Amino acid sequence: MSQKAIIFDLDGVIVDTAKFHFLAWKKLANDLGFDFTKEQNEELKGVSRVDSLKKILNWGNKELSEEEFNRQMQLKNENYLSYVNEMDKGEVLPGVQKVLDYLEENNIPYALGSASKNARHILEKIDLKDGFSAIVDGTDVSKAKPDPEVFLIAAEKLNVAPQKCIVFEDSVAGVQAANKGEMTSIGIGEEKTLHEADYIFNDFTEISIEFLKNLLQK
Ligand code: G6P
Ligand code: MG
Repeated sequence: MSQKAIIFDLDGVIVDTAKFHFLAWKKLANDLGFDFTKEQNEELKGVSRVDSLKKILNWGNKELSEEEFNRQMQLKNENYLSYVNEMDKGEVLPGVQKVLDYLEENNIPYALGSASKNARHILEKIDLKDGFSAIVDGTDVSKAKPDPEVFLIAAEKLNVAPQKCIVFEDSVAGVQAANKGEMTSIGIGEEKTLHEADYIFNDFTEISIEFLKNLLQK
């Protein structure tokens, strides 16, 4: 079998941090005098911290000075981290560990490719950091998804050709990034949102070892 590798997004794939981002962004919006809905939060999946705040301010018709913008971003992150700091292994989404175990038992390398600047910290909290052969996160990239940069750097670090990488993603931008990088894309979430992916599953409990085996042998 020619060597293949897996690249995981973090938020929405390995853990559900969207609920914590929602609480922290909602507090920021409310403190600035407007509301923020769950539907709007959905649109921030895979979007960097700075671009998320730009979108939120736009929804709230609010303009901030550069200094205040940066202060609000920092406050939001501190608030978000207060939830993250309560996380433990129990936050790993159902079915994920089974897939990681299979990869380890079969010496298939896997990497992280996330937009989050908190990715390493989160992996430590959920006790998964050591298994990753490479970690590429929001501190390592200059171009956000749907640009494939984050996944291409991960492939390079894994020393595996992009065409041999399989990416798990929950965001449209992430699926597009994987496709642009000529990787196999697996969408985790709803078909109507992630239809550009090569394969789509609602969650990891739907992914069988048989499916993985076939994909890795292709
Ligand atoms: C992920 C999440 C986004 C988040 C981004 C940056 O892509 O889906 O909602 O805004 O990471 O996360 P950070 O932890 O750096 O604020
Ligand atoms: Mg995600």
